[in-house]
Amino acid sequence: MDLKAYLEERRALVNRALEAYLPAVRCPAFRVVQAMHYSLFAGGKRLRPILCLAGADAVGGDITEVLPVACALEMIHTYSLIHDDLPAMDDDDLRRGQPTCHKKYDEATAILAGDGLLTAAFHTLAEAAPRFEEREIALLAVIQLIADAAGYRGMVGGQMLDLQAEGREVTLKELETIHRLKTGALLTASVRSGALMAGGTRAEVAALASYGEKFGLVFQITDDLLDVEGEAAEMGKATGMDAQRRKATYPGVVGRDEAREWARRLVETAIADLEPFGPRAEPLREIARYLLARRS
Ligand code: IPE
Ligand code: IPE
Ligand code: MG
Ligand code: MG
Ligand code: MG
Repeated sequence: MDLKAYLEERRALVNRALEAYLPAVRCPAFRVVQAMHYSLFAGGKRLRPILCLAGADAVGGDITEVLPVACALEMIHTYSLIHDDLPAMDDDDLRRGQPTCHKKYDEATAILAGDGLLTAAFHTLAEAAPRFEEREIALLAVIQLIADAAGYRGMVGGQMLDLQAEGREVTLKELETIHRLKTGALLTASVRSGALMAGGTRAEVAALASYGEKFGLVFQITDDLLDVEGEAAEMGKATGMDAQRRKATYPGVVGRDEAREWARRLVETAIADLEPFGPRAEPLREIARYLLARRS
């Protein structure tokens, strides 16, 4: 399959849906809406919504039905980036090739834009209920799983641990926990929620969750590697910052070669999880392989 064309087509689909769910309509607090829009449409690979749609595809579902869930995931992800870049956290100036939200606006506006995106995500999910009639229970399960993945037992928890680990030695086990929570949880929730919403069986959802967990780890390992080896111009964010802040990273703990080898092995096992799905999971296989070669 032509992965590039597939990703471009899905990205366009997601972008159109995001515009519809979060229109930049005038309202009294228009400044925060502008800041939310600025970060949401600054670029971005749209990997979480694409995984969500691909999860639905893998179980033979209708992807248009899953679009609100896919968009909610991207809103949550964008909020996490805005807050991650704040001076109180990673203090970064460049994101998605443009000044970070707090640089373009100001810190208070960036905090509120993140809050606005997080809450808009759950509004988008709840608003989708009438579309799901007989599958409202599945939607409730999806809302719960996304809240869990985004919250203190997932991404928020991982961000806490990431900050607490700054400047000190961490074990490989600790590092894996940080990565699993700060990045893996939302990526896993993405593929799982797509499959759940599309009516996947328990066994299918479990197999995709297992794929997602490995995918999540590989994604953060390659993010860490790109921070050392990547090109800021291609990535749209600064490089070398992890070392400067003494962040807990895979290349930092086990070295670049071993990190790369570990990522390669995880991709193999993630692809093995997709065995039962046959050709319908081809996009998920290709996206997992792409992680090893990605440059942004
Ligand atoms: C960056 O995520 C933050 C991490 C979890 C490592 P992405 O690399 O998916 O960022 P965008 O959405 O493409 O900008
Ligand atoms: C961020 O990890 C994970 C989030 C939950 C946002 P990083 O701090 O490594 O992400 P980048 O490198 O700034 O995109
Ligand atoms: Mg960070
Ligand atoms: Mg960061
Ligand atoms: Mg990083």
